[in-house]
Amino acid sequence: MKRILVTGGTGYIGSHTAVELINAGYEVIIIDNLSNSTADSLDGIEAITGVRPAFVHGDVNDMETLEKLFSDFPGIEGIINFAASKAVNESVRKPLLYYRNNLVTLLNLLEMTVKHGVKGFVFSSSCTVYGEPDVNPVTEKSPIKPATSPYGNTKQISEEIITDTIYSGAPFRAILLRYFNPVGAHPSALIGELPNGVPQNLIPYLTQTAIGVRQELSVFGDDYPTPDGSCIRDFINVVDLAKAHVMAISRLIEGRTAEPVEIFNLGTGNGVSVLELINTFESATGVKVPYRIAPRREGDIVKVWADPEHANNVLGWKAEISLADTMLSAWNWQKRLREKGIM
Ligand code: UD1
Repeated sequence: MKRILVTGGTGYIGSHTAVELINAGYEVIIIDNLSNSTADSLDGIEAITGVRPAFVHGDVNDMETLEKLFSDFPGIEGIINFAASKAVNESVRKPLLYYRNNLVTLLNLLEMTVKHGVKGFVFSSSCTVYGEPDVNPVTEKSPIKPATSPYGNTKQISEEIITDTIYSGAPFRAILLRYFNPVGAHPSALIGELPNGVPQNLIPYLTQTAIGVRQELSVFGDDYPTPDGSCIRDFINVVDLAKAHVMAISRLIEGRTAEPVEIFNLGTGNGVSVLELINTFESATGVKVPYRIAPRREGDIVKVWADPEHANNVLGWKAEISLADTMLSAWNWQKRLREKGIM
């Protein structure tokens, strides 16, 4: 069984990816410091797959922890790196935390990759690298815009660090996955997104409002130059997204990559506005979401959606789950959190 290290594997996208890796026959080792997730994810992964992944409770910032991990679990063939901080606002207030958590961890892992002969490295990048695009949909060749937050900057710098390392002759290959807006949860409702405190992102805020934890959802701006005035995003189901990681790591391990570093946009190809999303949620679940129009949120992109052709053609990946099913999965997860007394 091929061994894959999933950093940040108890988190939102990491836990869904662990499930898909196990389903595809990989052995998964998770390292997570549980700073933004709980070990309950391991129960969820086990309940879905019947397999409990090996878990190291530790920090990727710490080289000694990593050295021990690599000696306890020899022969790791691939690394999928989710261990990072991801709140845009927080990154503006705490840049050093973001540079440490997102860049020092990456440097440590790349050193380990070279030292221990790991074949493939998959990195979680973001559509944030495109900034406000001049043209939609966005392809992988669309221009990279100056980052508008330390978070966004860490994604750009990370892509450069990985690329420089590989083109220096390092003996491994990498795939950079640029996610659009990952949403929803596993259809079993056994794993999902668990935001710390007041959610900054749309879907957790929306589902918490729908269940009554929050009074109302603020729609940030209805006067943008879009058909209904609200911002447009490409909402991609987290299970679809997770499957792309399995395709990427297999491609790397099996030596099927065409270039030493490959980049793929992961989105549906459909731009959906914030107001359309609320409507889809309401009709999929039958639950009303109290909302009001609020001022624009500083730093928001007006509209961005993916051209997923490259991922379709080269990776063989395509988003398959409908937005309505995705909204239903997010709602079922929120209800499950309520049943467990978490929310
Ligand atoms: C941004 C980044 C993304 C990053 C993510 C992490 C861009 C294009 N995207 O996503 O790369 O990974 O943050 O957090 O830079 N909204 C409301 N009310 C709310 C919350 C959000 O109306 O309470 C709106 C926002 O104004 C936005 C949309 O919903 O138009 C999506 O917002 P959000 O879920 O926060 O994600 P992004 O900002 O798109």
